[in-house]
Amino acid sequence: MTGVRSWERGGSALERTAALLRVQGAACRDIGSPLYGDLLAHAADDLLAGGPVASVLAGHLDSRPASVLALRMLGGAHALALSGQAPELAAWYPSAGGATDQEPGSPRAWSALRQTLAGQPDAIREWLNWPPQTNEVGRAAALIGGLLYLTARASLPARLVEVGASAGLNLRADQFFVPGDAGTYGDPDSPVVLSHGWQGAAPPAGPVEVISRVGGDIAPIDPASPAGRLRLTAYVWPDQADRLARLRGALAVAERVPAELRAEPATATLARTELADGTWTVLWHSIFRQYLTQEQRAELADGVARLGAAATPRARFAYLYLEQSRAGGCPVTLTTWPGGSTEILGAASPHGIPVRWGSLAR
Ligand SMILES: C[S@@+](CC[C@H](N)C(=O)[O-])C[C@H]1O[C@@H](n2cnc3c(N)ncnc32)[C@H](O)[C@@H]1O
Repeated sequence: MTGVRSWERGGSALERTAALLRVQGAACRDIGSPLYGDLLAHAADDLLAGGPVASVLAGHLDSRPASVLALRMLGGAHALALSGQAPELAAWYPSAGGATDQEPGSPRAWSALRQTLAGQPDAIREWLNWPPQTNEVGRAAALIGGLLYLTARASLPARLVEVGASAGLNLRADQFFVPGDAGTYGDPDSPVVLSHGWQGAAPPAGPVEVISRVGGDIAPIDPASPAGRLRLTAYVWPDQADRLARLRGALAVAERVPAELRAEPATATLARTELADGTWTVLWHSIFRQYLTQEQRAELADGVARLGAAATPRARFAYLYLEQSRAGGCPVTLTTWPGGSTEILGAASPHGIPVRWGSLAR
C-alpha cells in the first residue's frame, strides 16, 4: 500500500518503480512466495543502484501498477531457469530442481538472479511485453463441486463451456481428484490431486459425466505446445510446490483428454453456444469478470439470459462461476434453468483452494 501511494504521489519514475517492486514483493510474500518477497526487495535496491535490474527495466519505468512489471521480469527469468538456459538460477529455484535458499533474505538466490539478469537482459526484456498469463488448476475444486450439485438436481451429462479459459486446463476438472474429510471426488490415481480442496459440508456425492469441453479466451495458451507449457509454468512462483504440481498434473491430463480452445472473446463463445437435449450445458468462468468492461459484462449477462430463456427440462442450462466479490472472498455461484434460481454454494480463495461449502460460506 505504501508503495502504491508513493507511486500515485510522484517521485522519479525510478523511485516509483522501485516502490512498486517492493509492493509486489510484499504481496507475493503474503500469498505464499517468500522467495519472490526477498528477490523483489533486492531488485528494488538494485534498480535504485543502477544495477542489472535498471538495464532490464529501462524504457518500462512508466508502466502502470496494473501491468505487474515485476512479475513480467521474474516470469522471464523463471522461464530461462526452467528451460535450462540459466543453470545458476535453476540451482536456487525449487521448481527447476534447485535448493531453497535458507539464509534470511535469500542472498544466494538473489546473486543468481542478478547474474541471470546481467547475462541475458534481452531474453528477459522480451517477457516485459507480455501480460502474465496463468491457469489456476486449484479453481477446478469449485467447478467439480458445482457439477456435483447439478447432477444431484438432474442426472444428465454435462457439456462444459468456459469463457476466459486461458489454457483450458479446468475444462478437464472432472478428471481431477479431491481427497479429504469433507467428501472425496474422483480417481485417486489422477495426476491432479486437489489436496485440502474442500472444507465444510461436501457437495452431493455422485458420478459426473462430461461429454464435451469447449473454451474461449482472447489470449489462449496451447497446453500441448512446449512454448505454451513453459509460459504457464514460468508465471507460477518457483517456491510454490503445490501450485506447480497441480499445473504439471493438469498439463499431463490435457495430453490425453482433448478440449476445444478458441482464440475469441467471451461474447463470441456465448454466441455460438446452444443447448442440447438430454444434457446440462454448463457455462463456467473463474477470476475473469474483473477484466471485462461494463459493456462486456452487459453482453455476458445478455448471453446468459438468452441461454436461460431457451432452457427446458430436457435441455438444461447452468451458469457457474468463481469470482471475487466486493464484500471480499470469492463466492461459488450457481444459477440453473429452467427456473433461473441462484444459489451461493460456497466460497473459495482466489487460487480456488480451499472451497468452503455450505453454510460456512455465508
Ligand atoms: C486471471 S485469468 C483466469 C484464467 C482461468 N479462468 C483461470 O481461472 O485460471 C483471466 C483470463 O481471462 C481472459 N480474458 C480477459 N478478457 C477476456 C474476454 N473479453 N473474453 C475472453 N477472455 C478474456 C484472459 O486472457 C485470461 O486468460
